[in-house]
Amino acid sequence: MRRYGRGVRRLLPGPVADIDPMELYPALPRPKPAGRPWLMLNMIASADGAVAVDGTSEALGNPADEAVFSAVRACADWIVAAAGTVRAERYGLPRPGAKSRRARRAAGRSDRPRLAVVSASLDLDLDLPLFADQRAGDDLPVILTGRDAAAEAADRLEPVAEVVRLASVRPQPEEILAELDRRGAGVVLSEGGPSFNAQLADAGLIDELCLSIAPLVAGGASPRIVHGSRRTVPLNLTVDHLLEASDTLFVRYVG
Ligand SMILES: NC(=O)c1ccc[n+]([C@@H]2O[C@H](COP(=O)([O-])OP(=O)(O)OC[C@H]3O[C@@H](n4cnc5c(N)ncnc54)[C@H](OP(=O)(O)O)[C@@H]3O)[C@@H](O)[C@H]2O)c1
Repeated sequence: MRRYGRGVRRLLPGPVADIDPMELYPALPRPKPAGRPWLMLNMIASADGAVAVDGTSEALGNPADEAVFSAVRACADWIVAAAGTVRAERYGLPRPGAKSRRARRAAGRSDRPRLAVVSASLDLDLDLPLFADQRAGDDLPVILTGRDAAAEAADRLEPVAEVVRLASVRPQPEEILAELDRRGAGVVLSEGGPSFNAQLADAGLIDELCLSIAPLVAGGASPRIVHGSRRTVPLNLTVDHLLEASDTLFVRYVG
């Protein structure tokens, strides 16, 4: 039987019985590579590799995963997500809790990460929480799009977003990171989805992969965490740590 009440324990390197993800993740070193931010990827998959059940990741999560998810977000200056994920998961603006804000400040970060969404079509419903649930003082989400994006589509979003046209027709991962670098990002967290991750993997830009493995098999036709990559073996990864809570495994790989 799964024990949700038990804390998070570290299995590698060397066991630690009770560990607070919020104290662990944001304090880890993430040196900025030359000319671009450090890029983290955070994904959850079932034990058989599915990233979604019935179209979203909701069924894969549990409270322990939520704690790690918040701790990983506390590491980031900018969160970037592709439009398919923003639509499926109904993204809102990041609103870290008090503990996360404290960890962010201790690591020299602003209270909240900014959100960037990558979309070629700009076909994003205005009733998505990132637009519809904005509050006074919120930074607008930044929508990164291609140079030829339709003006009407951009105009429709402009009251609730900053639409930024990048130089390519379809923004390249390097351009996306360069834009966030220009905006002061030291650490960028990509939350996917799999087809966007494939572009990051193909470009060789992933510095850190935080992978949660949920204790279930999903079956079905869900993609894996990277889908459509051109490269067969795109990453060489080293296990930095392995945590466990509620039978969910949390691996941090560094590239
Ligand atoms: N388990 C997890 O941790 C996790 C995490 C994230 C997502 N997911 C799941 O993954 C699924 C979504 O992933 P997905 O692979 O289908 O889609 P995705 O990668 O999230 O989004 C694809 C869309 O993003 C935009 N896009 C991607 N690259 C672009 C580029 N270079 N330039 C411009 N626009 C670009 C395009 O949007 P437009 O169509 O607007 O042009 C494209 O259609 C959902 O089921 C979601 O629940 C799971």
